[in-house]
Amino acid sequence: MPFVVLGVTAGIAAYKAVDLCRRLVDAGVHVAPVVTERATRFVGTATFDALASEPVQSSLWDEVSPIPHTRLGQSADLVVVAPATADLLARFAGGHADDLLTATLLATRATVVVCPAMHTEMWEHPAVQANLGTLRSRGVVVIPPEDGRLAGGDQGSGRLAEPAHIAEVVLELLAHRAAVADRPVVSDLAGRRVVVSAGGTREPIDPVRYLTNRSSGKQGHALALAASDRGATVDLVTTSRTPVDPRIRVHPVETAADLEAAMLALADGADVVVMAAAVADFRPASVASSKLRKTDGIPDLVLEPTPDILAALGRRRTEGQVLVGFAAETEDVVRRAAEKLARKGVDLIVANDVTAPDVGFDHDTNAVTILGADGATTEVALTGKVAVAHAVFDRVVRLLATPE
Ligand code: C5P
Repeated sequence: MPFVVLGVTAGIAAYKAVDLCRRLVDAGVHVAPVVTERATRFVGTATFDALASEPVQSSLWDEVSPIPHTRLGQSADLVVVAPATADLLARFAGGHADDLLTATLLATRATVVVCPAMHTEMWEHPAVQANLGTLRSRGVVVIPPEDGRLAGGDQGSGRLAEPAHIAEVVLELLAHRAAVADRPVVSDLAGRRVVVSAGGTREPIDPVRYLTNRSSGKQGHALALAASDRGATVDLVTTSRTPVDPRIRVHPVETAADLEAAMLALADGADVVVMAAAVADFRPASVASSKLRKTDGIPDLVLEPTPDILAALGRRRTEGQVLVGFAAETEDVVRRAAEKLARKGVDLIVANDVTAPDVGFDHDTNAVTILGADGATTEVALTGKVAVAHAVFDRVVRLLATPE
């Protein structure tokens, strides 16, 4: 059972940490809450005591033996601080250890996630942003706040990310950690440059509406992490705004046209290119410059095809480059994927049947068939998306080692 320390600091959003705690416990996580003394003025410890896996601790002196700051820090698979105040970020960035939470943060080698929440002026202050920059550079995952209503009726950026979203990121990081722990460390992509695309593109209709698809970007992000863990330098071109491991260079995009420009530029000279993104096949032929009004009647939406980026990459790929495509299918999965493999000129196609339970879009799990231009086929039964990513790179590494 994964062990998570849930740090709660003194912000009005502290009550939302109760929901986060419940979601993690429901997902089978052992949650040890560390609620700072000042945070207990915002949220009652009795609530956490009832929901969490062990009683709340606030002080370095709650337990005499074993010493709690090392026990919690050392046992944790992950520490998440939600909400994280500006003060906590400053003390963590500065290496303070004068209360149980900061001491736990210093005493852990686990993944650390911070979820800032504060007023917009504080959030935008250069001191806060500099502290976040320091923490990010040390590998801390930051789940940024959202825009919305803040304490005191103010409106703006600084509202704690939704507990459901935080729980999703935490569970994904735990799944990644478990998948990595089960694998022997191999650096078989060291010195290689890998480019991965991820997520569903968004094709605007007018300034407020767009056409998109069900892709979450999770498989593409898992591919980027797996390549990075195997020693590659990774560029991730993504429509998803999920926080990404700081070793990975992120290129945020929205539309098929953005994604095409980024991929064509980055693919030049790359050793491996993986198109996991769900690129729109059609987009509105023209984008209205102002919001279409329903009082003007139902608009005639004229669509035009988007360029096939993977096929373009197939035509212009450089010597020795390994090109991987994806095929999300609903019927005749392997036959259609094999046909795509040939038509798009790729080395590998990763096919999945998105109608199967727990497979594909927005799930943390996937089941795929990897088809190669060399005729070899690998079946990967239902497993985590990181494990699927490693199965893909196992095939890629074989191709890099034995160029045609
Ligand atoms: O033809 P289909 O969309 O099923 O092919 C899927 C593969 O092609 C994926 O790797 C996807 O990233 C890529 N693709 C693309 N450009 C498009 C459509 C799909 O690169 N316009």
